[in-house]
Amino acid sequence: MKVRYLGHSAFRIETGGNVILIDPFLAPNKEYNFQNDNISYVFVTHGHSDHLGSSIDISKIKSAPIIGVFELANYCTQLGAKAIGANLGGWINFPFGRVYFAPAFHSSSFADGTYAGCPAGILMEIEGKKIFHAGDSALTQEYKTLGELNEIELAMLPIGGFYTMGALDAIVATRWLCAKQVIPMHYNTFDLIKADTKTFEEGLKKEGATPRILAYNEEIEI
Ligand code: NI
Ligand code: MN
Repeated sequence: MKVRYLGHSAFRIETGGNVILIDPFLAPNKEYNFQNDNISYVFVTHGHSDHLGSSIDISKIKSAPIIGVFELANYCTQLGAKAIGANLGGWINFPFGRVYFAPAFHSSSFADGTYAGCPAGILMEIEGKKIFHAGDSALTQEYKTLGELNEIELAMLPIGGFYTMGALDAIVATRWLCAKQVIPMHYNTFDLIKADTKTFEEGLKKEGATPRILAYNEEIEI
């Protein structure tokens, strides 16, 4: 599969004929235009606008379902999007593999204050490999459970601090998840979440994991 960083916490995953977006907040990305992409699914970790992003428009224009926690999905449906309501703890099958909504330790509401259900991290099994997008979260011992039950090839972890775990806690998260490779996310988009990737890179190497620091629109194959 191909994993492309679209900036902030947004990713594009391509597997077989499927294009999957996660948390498509695309405003900071001047190069990527979803109109020119053949999007099959949109996954959203929680209701905050820097994660919901362009999901509603993408769903309407591309006829791609939004998959998120039940309350988030219902809200998207009310706005005219196609949506599938999920919740924590169950595997859901898709033509490209299967997906599990995992706990995130954060909050979740829409810009108008509507409750968006609990926030989530998203674990995907694609082409026999497990990849984990943490969404926005504090460091939480839930990662020990996820790491014990899953062999995680790639994790996408926030490192920006202030609203989420910072770089040092993301290193501990990597250890607990037993993730082999980690892409840092949710940093340097705004002043409040400035982060130094050097600290993260060095710490991660000490844990025996491979840091994958991606520029906007950079893509890796895993
Ligand atoms: Ni958030
Ligand atoms: Mn956020």
